[in-house]
Amino acid sequence: MILLRSKREIEKMRWSGGIVADIMDELEELIAPGVRTIDLDRRAGARMEKSGARSAFMGYASPVPGVPPYPGNICVSIDEAVVHGIPGERVLEEGEIVSIDIGVCCNGYYGDMARTMPVGKISSEKKALIETARESLARAVEKARSGNRLGDISHAIESCAEERGFSVVRDFVGHGIGQQMHEEPQIPNYGRPGSGPRLNAGMVLAMEPMINAGGHGVKVLEDGWTVVTADGKPSAHFEHTVAIGENGPEIMTWRKKSR
Ligand code: MF3
Ligand code: CO
Repeated sequence: MILLRSKREIEKMRWSGGIVADIMDELEELIAPGVRTIDLDRRAGARMEKSGARSAFMGYASPVPGVPPYPGNICVSIDEAVVHGIPGERVLEEGEIVSIDIGVCCNGYYGDMARTMPVGKISSEKKALIETARESLARAVEKARSGNRLGDISHAIESCAEERGFSVVRDFVGHGIGQQMHEEPQIPNYGRPGSGPRLNAGMVLAMEPMINAGGHGVKVLEDGWTVVTADGKPSAHFEHTVAIGENGPEIMTWRKKSR
């Protein structure tokens, strides 16, 4: 069942989404060669505390038995890392691309977003990859309208990536979001237009295209979390929490400051 959120609940999600977006913009300004991924995590953790929010990721249980709970406030995934990179001593280097994923819970409601950013000067292929992933999310958001179907969102992402010769990750999906980070439905990044459940005003969806420069295959590293491309080629990830309103999509993960 896909839950429908009241105006009051949407307002709370707007608040949580605003916190996430503010932190993302703050971290983006810190991205530079020489910065450790743990520095980004600590800054995010401090900002969450200041905002009265908690990390949605810290302590998150892995579905895989024996893998310890997620140990970071945020995920930081570099180059061939697709998602769920654990912050640590690794230092960002010129020419890399870094995907930051931030999720919080505030007043009982979640916000979740991701963005891939360049570290200094990057190759034209990496630029194209980032722009494609950004564009595929924009096209997906555009489909988040009452009366459309879930497959319209999935297809918008897939077709955007494949038009440009890139591929979409098939092993991880977007998701409904609200009083839990992961709610129904699952949102694959590929699919047929006109298929799947019908979308309605009040649904809130976290859409998250993960686009690979090479093939769609991925594997998980020894740490049990970090997902990397099977072929070692770079990957980009964008995510927004989006509410379906009466008059179309509204991005919840938008800066509070610009409102
Ligand atoms: N945005 C990701 C998701 O929706 C981040 C989860 S990281 C985890 O699954 F640690 F919480 F799993
Ligand atoms: Co998510």
